[in-house]
This record gives sequence, structure tokens and C-alpha cells, in this order.
Amino acid sequence: MSITRLFDNNRHWRAHKTAQDPTFFSRLARGQAPAYLWIGCSDSRVPANDILGLEPGELFVHRNIANLVVADDANLCAVITYAVAALRVRDVLVVGHYGCGGVRAALGGPSGLEAVDAWLRPVTDLHAANRAELDAIADPEARVDRLCELNVAQQVANVAAHPAVQDAWAEGRTLNLHGLIYGLADGQLHDLGCTRTGAAEAPRASAAQRG
Ligand code: CO
Repeated sequence: MSITRLFDNNRHWRAHKTAQDPTFFSRLARGQAPAYLWIGCSDSRVPANDILGLEPGELFVHRNIANLVVADDANLCAVITYAVAALRVRDVLVVGHYGCGGVRAALGGPSGLEAVDAWLRPVTDLHAANRAELDAIADPEARVDRLCELNVAQQVANVAAHPAVQDAWAEGRTLNLHGLIYGLADGQLHDLGCTRTGAAEAPRASAAQRG
């Protein structure tokens, strides 16, 4: 399969951007000062900038399967640290989506793809921890969607426990963490109401973790 189409697309995009704003690329080349960090799912149907209507330069992005925030993930740790300590973003958006294949896979048992199953273990654990509530939901898709919501809230708590975030709050800086979820079927973004704006709201365990 040729990727010629992608270069054609790029040529058109460049021309369009330059026509709109002749300084677009020269301005971006000088540096970035995004106000937001997006931590979302790798799912191809959840394009971060498009959903928020943001241009290049406005959103620092990390994506992985099922939008997980894992303490020993060196990749995400560097992203959060750089975004918070260097770029000094003001808002961190943890964005899940309904119908997440990663969350569904964790509910459905081993996929046979070892690396994927290992990665999704936190979702499997979250399922186990919320077994009673989830088992009471009769519709399998509604059960997946509820676990998608619980997963976002858990990942917001994990971001709150991150040392870079704790340090920013200790310095009295404005740094808001938001848990959002996106509907594939209607394109709507929802706020799950688990916003955190300071260390006082972080769970005790996170303070203890820092030791
Ligand atoms: Co997903």
C-alpha cells in the first residue's frame, strides 16, 4: 500500500495553513506554549486536537491504549514531568472514551496478545475492585461504558499522585486535573466531575506514596 496519499494530504494541509496565516509555521518553529496536556486513548477515532478544536501548538499529547496512567511508565512519567515542570500547562485532561476496546478487552479476559494483556492489567484490577457495581449492570455495553468512566476517574487520581503534580501544587501553582469521556457515537465530550485543583483533594495514599 502506497503512502502517496499522505504526502498529497500534507501538501494540501501546508498550503491551506499558509494561506490562512503566512506566519503559521515560522511562529510554531520558534517554540510551543500549550496550556493543556491531553492523556488519551490511542484509538484512531479519538483525535485529540480535532475533538477540542485546537491548533498545532495548543495541546501537549500523550496517548496509550485505554488512557492509563501507570506510576512506573517512564514514557508517561517524562511527558507529565515535562508538561507540568517545563511547559507549565494549567490543565491536564485525562480523556477516556465510551466503547473503549482496551477496557472491553480487560473485561473479556485474556486476548492472547501478551503485551496488550500485561498493559491492560490495571483495568483488570479496576474491574475486580468494582465487581459488585459492574456485575449489577445487565447490558454488556453499558458495563463497558461504566468501566470506561471508572477508569478515567482512577487515572485522574494517578495523575494527582505524580511527583511533578504534587510539586506544582506544593508551590501553589494553578494546575487542574480533569476527567473527561468522549462519545464515539455522537462526538460529544463529557466532564465526569472528578476535577482536582490541589493537593488537599488528592487521596491520602498518594501523599504517602511520595514518602
Ligand atoms: Co480506547
